[in-house]
Amino acid sequence: MKKKIVAMLLTAAMATSMAVPAFAAEEAPIDLTGIDVENTTIGIAIYQFADNFMTLYREELVDYLVSLGFKESNIMVQDGKNDQAEQTNQINNFITAGVDVMILNLVQSSSAPQVTDLCNEAGIPVVYINRQPDEAESDRWVAEGIKATYVGADARQSGTFQGEIVLETANKGDINGDGKISYIMVQGDPENVDAQYRTEFSVKALTDAGMEVEELLLQRGDWDQAKGQQIVQDALTQFGDQIEVVFCNNDAMGLGAMQSILAAGRVVNEDIYLLGVDALTDALDNIIAGNYTGTVFNDHISQAHEAANEAIKFLKGEEVAPINMVDYAKVTTDNAAEVLEMLK
Ligand code: BGC
Repeated sequence: MKKKIVAMLLTAAMATSMAVPAFAAEEAPIDLTGIDVENTTIGIAIYQFADNFMTLYREELVDYLVSLGFKESNIMVQDGKNDQAEQTNQINNFITAGVDVMILNLVQSSSAPQVTDLCNEAGIPVVYINRQPDEAESDRWVAEGIKATYVGADARQSGTFQGEIVLETANKGDINGDGKISYIMVQGDPENVDAQYRTEFSVKALTDAGMEVEELLLQRGDWDQAKGQQIVQDALTQFGDQIEVVFCNNDAMGLGAMQSILAAGRVVNEDIYLLGVDALTDALDNIIAGNYTGTVFNDHISQAHEAANEAIKFLKGEEVAPINMVDYAKVTTDNAAEVLEMLK
């Protein structure tokens, strides 16, 4: 179990001196009074174990619950294999098993109304994580007093941070000086708000700063490294030197993109910029090595702890807010080593 990281982003104004997130190592222990910790059963459904980021998140979540005293044998964790029908079966099995609470990373966030109703009818509270149900759904939890909540991070912030990292480079992303930033966008699964918002807000940060932009390509890579690699390989063949910035909605795709960029003989931070999200350790190593411009820390540690803490509030019968957001933090050469150290 990692210590919770409270990443407080220093503003761009302060960035010149030290763009380092401040990490508060200690978190107040959650009060477990009134919970039969030994016998509490928890159902966790992850959309797909083959996702790098969700693997870090899942491991942290289980470790944290165990550190609080919940028994590992009472924590059931299922792999939805990116198939909503399969995941809905797993959730039904949790209901049959009579779990006390569920923590769910849906395959399709659009299934939230149906899944919420299943759990609500069975009297089991639900903490949704990572894939945010739409606003109408979270409004309904409040209006109908349903025990459901969401823990995540506001993806608009991560997109904005990606754009800001580009603006903080010497030429603000306009490497060839033609007055516009020409980019390609490698998108995650577009059903996911994280993919939608990162795509929109990374570019919005540029245009809000008065920059002209040119989108050469937008293609879905479904959060997947191999797809990211292929998309960027093809784009480099098609557009060559025209590409100044490669935005990837996550680091898995960013690392795939990096392989293609290096294979094409392009030099990151000199003739091309590369941006991801998550702060996977591979991405951090490559920021330090100069092969990757920057990423945005998607704080799986705070999100995992927050998800468990919200589940505990439900178990205690406490009031739970419908939406609980954790901050992102920018990572560039200025602070990558520090973030890496903290994640070890
Ligand atoms: C992460 C991605 C991950 C996705 C899964 C996003 O928040 O940035 O790496 O694949 O969640 O839903």
